[in-house]
Amino acid sequence: MAELRGFVMAVAAAVLVAVVSLAPGAAEAKTTIEPCSGSDSCQALLGYTLYADMKVSEVAALFAADPAALLAANALDFGDPGAAHRILPMGLFVRVPTRCSCADGVRKSVSVRYAARPEDTLATVADVVFAGLASADQIRNENGLASTDPDAPLDAGQKLVIPLPCVCFNSSDNNLPAMYLSYVVQVGDTVPAIAASYETTVTDVMNVNAMGSPVAAPGDILAIPLPACASAFPKSASDHGLIVANGTYALTAGNCVQCSCGPGSLNMQCPNSNVMLGNVSTHPTGAGCNVSSCNYGGFVNETITTSLSAGLQPRCPGPHQIPALTDPPTTVNHDSTYLPPLSAPGPAEAGGIMPEPGSASSPVQGGSFTLPKVSTANGPAGSVSEAPLMDKPRRILSFFVSCLVFYLQL
Ligand SMILES: *[C@@H]1O[C@H](CO)[C@@H](O)[C@H](O)[C@H]1NC(C)=O
Ligand SMILES: *[C@@H]1O[C@H](CO)[C@@H](O)[C@H](O)[C@H]1NC(C)=O
Ligand SMILES: *[C@@H]1O[C@H](CO)[C@@H](O)[C@H](O)[C@H]1NC(C)=O
Ligand SMILES: *[C@@H]1O[C@H](CO)[C@@H](O)[C@H](O)[C@H]1NC(C)=O
Ligand SMILES: *[C@@H]1O[C@H](CO)[C@@H](O)[C@H](O)[C@H]1NC(C)=O
Repeated sequence: MAELRGFVMAVAAAVLVAVVSLAPGAAEAKTTIEPCSGSDSCQALLGYTLYADMKVSEVAALFAADPAALLAANALDFGDPGAAHRILPMGLFVRVPTRCSCADGVRKSVSVRYAARPEDTLATVADVVFAGLASADQIRNENGLASTDPDAPLDAGQKLVIPLPCVCFNSSDNNLPAMYLSYVVQVGDTVPAIAASYETTVTDVMNVNAMGSPVAAPGDILAIPLPACASAFPKSASDHGLIVANGTYALTAGNCVQCSCGPGSLNMQCPNSNVMLGNVSTHPTGAGCNVSSCNYGGFVNETITTSLSAGLQPRCPGPHQIPALTDPPTTVNHDSTYLPPLSAPGPAEAGGIMPEPGSASSPVQGGSFTLPKVSTANGPAGSVSEAPLMDKPRRILSFFVSCLVFYLQL
């Protein structure tokens, strides 16, 4: 690592992009790296090919990612309650969202930890489990392990930090928002084919990866710019810098808010932000019921805020019920013992001073009579024949309204 770092520093002074051999002498696999300074992090994607059938939650756990975020980044249904338990087939290629930090002067993700299983070796962890996203040498260096045979078995349970490649390049490419995918070149891949499959040009791929020629070897890791939607959240927002690749989703605000990008215009849309608002999920445990819910947190400063709560309750709440909704009634049942709506007193129903038609039926506010007109075309208002049928409460109410109007006119 030290020699790599020294080299990176030297290169960083001259150019922003450096391509270095991370396994000198060995397979010469190249990884595009981005020098950085400071402690800011950014969002990137890892291209991962499943080495076995795996649950969504297992893939997510491997990369310390959230299962819903993983599904969202691949435009797979993340709202389905059972989605995290879906089994993904061996060989499937997925984009794994990752937080790209700045460590040892280069962009990389170091938040992934892996506990070795019996019979794991550095080589199998690197090449099989992580599908070439890290090399055995990189894992050895990152964990300060003695130089050993990459095929020697690791101690079962041994905890390893897996350094994963990522670049952000200011989340832009040719001055347009972009999200970078770290792609492990496969046997049979060519740079033109890779560029075509990501709807970009060979020149663009060569520029991003500082390549002298359009040639890549299996195992090399290329940074592929994906067109994306950028956000403009303030620095104070915890999701400042949120970026979403074309055709996919990202979840934010404790998974309460979902933002999408494309496929038409590349403007970030968060219109279904409240789809998950109000969702409650329950997990019965031995100690009680683990209830997590996405709550509406109020309209703060022109902004819908959300909050996520999780905690143990003695019992699981029953299914959530909401009041039934019906269409508004089109007729009024005068035999009802309830008060009819205040909005429809007929002109013939009371003996007091008649307000002007159209301004009559109003809860009186400060002597103003500018409320909407009552249509005489439908409803009981103005229907003379109905007046004698008025029941007692209605007459009392009409009388009261008339008195009020009379009083205000004095
Ligand atoms: C969340 O609520 C939406 C409707 O508001 C529903 O379609 C979705 O299935 C719910 N998701 C979960 C995980 O309960
Ligand atoms: C990063 O991108 C933003 C806009 O996307 C731009 O204003 C800024 O100058 C860029 N910074 C660098 C160092 O390229
Ligand atoms: C975004 O993706 C859609 C397909 O999902 C594609 O048709 C469109 O060209 C893409 N937009 C850009 C700018 O690449
Ligand atoms: C409850 O569930 C949430 C998410 O579903 C989890 O983060 C939390 O650790 C759980 N808490 C307990 C006490 O099980
Ligand atoms: C509301 O937003 C404005 C500008 O976006 C800001 O100046 C103001 O401090 C905010 N107020 C609160 C209470 O956060």
